[in-house]
Amino acid sequence: MRLHPDIGDPTEVEFVLCWQPEPGLFASLPNLKLIFSMAAGFDHVLQDPSRPGHVPIIRIIDETLTTMMSEFAVYAVLGFHRYMPEFHRDQLEGLWQRRWPRFTTDTHIGVLGIGAIGSDVAQKLSVFGFQVHGWSRTEKSLDGIICHHGRDGLFKILSECEQVVSVLPLTEETTGIFNAETLNAMPRGSYITNIGRGGHVVDEDLLTALESGQIAGAFLDVFNDEPLPNDHPYWTHPKVVMTPHIAGEIVPRSCAKSIATNIELFREGHALIGIADLDRGY
Ligand code: NDP
Ligand code: OXD
Repeated sequence: MRLHPDIGDPTEVEFVLCWQPEPGLFASLPNLKLIFSMAAGFDHVLQDPSRPGHVPIIRIIDETLTTMMSEFAVYAVLGFHRYMPEFHRDQLEGLWQRRWPRFTTDTHIGVLGIGAIGSDVAQKLSVFGFQVHGWSRTEKSLDGIICHHGRDGLFKILSECEQVVSVLPLTEETTGIFNAETLNAMPRGSYITNIGRGGHVVDEDLLTALESGQIAGAFLDVFNDEPLPNDHPYWTHPKVVMTPHIAGEIVPRSCAKSIATNIELFREGHALIGIADLDRGY
């Protein structure tokens, strides 16, 4: 086990575990067999143009990571549902102001991306009694979830849901998915939570929608530029709640098992778990 930059003889390195390694690192490892993205996504790994195309990329599929993501999504959705950011703003202004409650079973929540993580998010949200919708690329069916797919499905889900949570991977198709057209397709005064990737949001369009009241609040864990630059308007925006890309963490105690299992499977010539599909982009 070698910790970069002390990797010793590069010809001995067979497996790399990484987030976003410096460009050129992969090309310097002639016997590289597998690249493990230390994440559920692998968009960051693709940023090294020297990455040898024949080396499979493995992404993390891990119960602890999924659980953390679901906890985060449930927290954000319940917070918006019960007006927590608004009450927090009232508190700062010394305002004692009640708000008319929303009826849970009449409230529609959309989950964009219902893969390994999003399906768990959707199912955990449905336990509270919300009408939960899920959106995927291909047609899917999930117990208790109203499933949609494709572009028409996206506009259906947006038009029906007061809150949308994105747990999408970043691909060519999903880049900028929160834009003026999609944000305006939601009911006025809706909320969005983004725990997918920052590249899903066209920031100027979200800021405009927040200013106009089309979107009542945004919970953002991921950003186009990370760390978010100090002068970005999100930092001080009263309708934005933000966290520094921590919705789901890669906890070694849990993820090490799946990485070790994959190395074992590879050595025994068996199929691996979580191989990135580079053609579809996730
Ligand atoms: P999966 O690959 O298991 O699921 C991806 C889901 O997105 C699938 O349901 C897929 O549809 C859907 N999808 C992909 N492209 C499209 C599209 N063009 N239109 C509609 N649906 C689409 O990924 P995971 O659930 O494991 O992870 C999802 C993402 O969450 C990661 O890629 C990462 O970006 C983000 N993440 C963020 C973290 C954080 O800390 N903020 C932590 C962990 C993950 P289909 O079912 O049809 O294939
Ligand atoms: C992930 C992440 O993709 O942490 O796992 O963002």
